[in-house]
Amino acid sequence: MIYLDNGATTWPKPESVYRAMDDFARHRAANPGRGAHAMALAAAAAVDDARLQVARLFHIAETQRVVFRASATDALNLALFGLLRPGDHVVTSPMEHNAVSRPLRALQDSGVRVTRVPADPFGWVDPQALADALTPATRLIVLNHVSNVTGTLQDIRAAGRMARERGLLFLVDAAQSAGVVPIDVEADAIDLLAFPGHKGLLGPMGTGGLYIGPRVDTDALRPLSFGGTGGNSEEDVPPRTLPARYEAGTLNAVGLAGLAAGVRFVLEQGVERILAHERSLADRLAEGLAALPGVRVYTHPDPARRTAVVSFTAEGWEPGDLGAILDQSFGIACRTGLHCAPDAARTIGVFPLGTVRFCPGWFTTEAEVDAAIEAARRIVAA
Ligand code: ALA
Repeated sequence: MIYLDNGATTWPKPESVYRAMDDFARHRAANPGRGAHAMALAAAAAVDDARLQVARLFHIAETQRVVFRASATDALNLALFGLLRPGDHVVTSPMEHNAVSRPLRALQDSGVRVTRVPADPFGWVDPQALADALTPATRLIVLNHVSNVTGTLQDIRAAGRMARERGLLFLVDAAQSAGVVPIDVEADAIDLLAFPGHKGLLGPMGTGGLYIGPRVDTDALRPLSFGGTGGNSEEDVPPRTLPARYEAGTLNAVGLAGLAAGVRFVLEQGVERILAHERSLADRLAEGLAALPGVRVYTHPDPARRTAVVSFTAEGWEPGDLGAILDQSFGIACRTGLHCAPDAARTIGVFPLGTVRFCPGWFTTEAEVDAAIEAARRIVAA
């Protein structure tokens, strides 16, 4: 099998990730933060280690500002529902995933106003367009770092610095970029960073989190869920301290043990090296596919704005049918359709059928990429 669905979740994981989860489950799987016995302390240490590795990766100075949640979607819900109130205005892009668009739509129904600025035909958003859309009521800019449909890389540093100059909060959806594109919350002026654990960070599903920067007033950021946090049990309100305020309930500690190993692996390889490897495979894919008759590839023409997401369509083919043949006849795993980002599909002109999407990862080889191009060639030539 050739796995080219790393945009949905990375596979395989490094051996160290499997080993860390197995070791945790066998030897340390008491409840982190809920007991003072040795095994509970070992479990808490594993969670602390995951927090530390994530903080190292994103250049987060205060480790407790990393809040673990079940997914990037969950983290985005916390940021958006926690922060926005009726009358607030949000500026965002048409390249957002439903993890942002659907919470914003629900918030619009309760009086939040949303402006989606235009993108270029390949999904790139000019930071100036974000600036032009601001109003006195604007509270937040939310931007997808890398599109899961086109792989388009946004200039989050320019957007973040502009937001900071204007006294606004900046939320970045790093679902496709975390672990693959360098992110520095200070240099990029990011106030809130939502990240999944199971994609570029090479951890398991059920992990992810939200970085909450010092400019965010946590009294005004309402928790998404309420419950036990392992301390202050006499209070009937959540603690004000991070990360406990936003981590009610038992954490997915076995998953976080895996996440810590995944992030360590990313740090050892180096994000720049990972990006260079994935980009070179994506460029090879894009070039090979674009040369096929009737095939159109949707990567950005500027190489600096590309990452490892290669979407394409083939004349006369529905993406879903092409994906089924790739899977059943060639053993190639990919994703087809709208990829949960319908406005991104509208932006590049592929709504409602969407695209076939190949996403190489760190473990993908050139030979696998060439086999995928050859498979596509044989299908479209048939
Ligand atoms: N958002 C993920 C994807 O693009 C699941 O496939």
